Amino acid sequence: MPQIIDGKTISTAIKDELKKEVAENNIKATLAVIQVGNDPASSVYVGNKKKACEYIGIGSASYELPEETTEDELLKLIDDLNEDDSISGILVQLPVPKHIDDRKIIERISPLKDVDGFHPESVGNLCIGRDGFVSCTPAGIIELMRRSGISIEGKECVVIGRSNIVGKPMALLLLANNGTVTVCHSRTRNLKEICKRADILVAAVGKPKMINRDYIKEGAVVIDVGIHRMDNGKLCGDVDYEDVSDIVSAITPVPGGVGPMTIAMLMVNCVKAAKQVK
Ligand code: GUN
Repeated sequence: MPQIIDGKTISTAIKDELKKEVAENNIKATLAVIQVGNDPASSVYVGNKKKACEYIGIGSASYELPEETTEDELLKLIDDLNEDDSISGILVQLPVPKHIDDRKIIERISPLKDVDGFHPESVGNLCIGRDGFVSCTPAGIIELMRRSGISIEGKECVVIGRSNIVGKPMALLLLANNGTVTVCHSRTRNLKEICKRADILVAAVGKPKMINRDYIKEGAVVIDVGIHRMDNGKLCGDVDYEDVSDIVSAITPVPGGVGPMTIAMLMVNCVKAAKQVK
């Protein structure tokens, strides 16, 4: 039986630590959460983020804007929130409608309030090893491994996926933790052979159950970032869990692995934003 990396328990422990820190130090934090349009999946994520704020004892200010909101209107709201001292963090739920340029939106958020860690300044800080806000999903994966006693130093790490939100910051974080890192993507040749070298394999492919035992080295640690709803209504990841479970040494389940960590790390970033000396 492999070690099952329990993201639910670890994320609850992180939120409980934050709750205690916020109460004991009388930290005043408010997260502004902006959603444009009413994509049902986004509404669920936004709802969960607001619930997490309530759980740890920080405020949330909700901005539910209609689909027709213009880019200028959204930029103006961000400017106002940047100036507002009662707001410590700003999150614009992605994706935004197609008529809005998400890069412009991300770049308008003050780097001091960039709790998603998507601003180029935050990404640059991560790249050169300076303190700053780190994208929540990859930061959560590092924390999962740290709290599960899995060391990264010197390990052969393979990341499948090169998105700005997961793959790229994941590679930078593994590197910062002294892993030897390979990033694979849709144009990679010999994907199976490269994955089979991995001591730590992070799958952020976006294809249900694509990663089976043919991609896995015996004893590897497998981190599954994917989440998909199957025809039978159940959730699965990018990894074929049943197929690989007898050869891996540790694996994150779906659900209950990486997913809950993303929101826990968002809360870490919100508390960090509130504690900054401005
Ligand atoms: N959409 C999917 N994931 C995320 C995330 O981590 N942050 C934001 N703002 N939008 C998302």
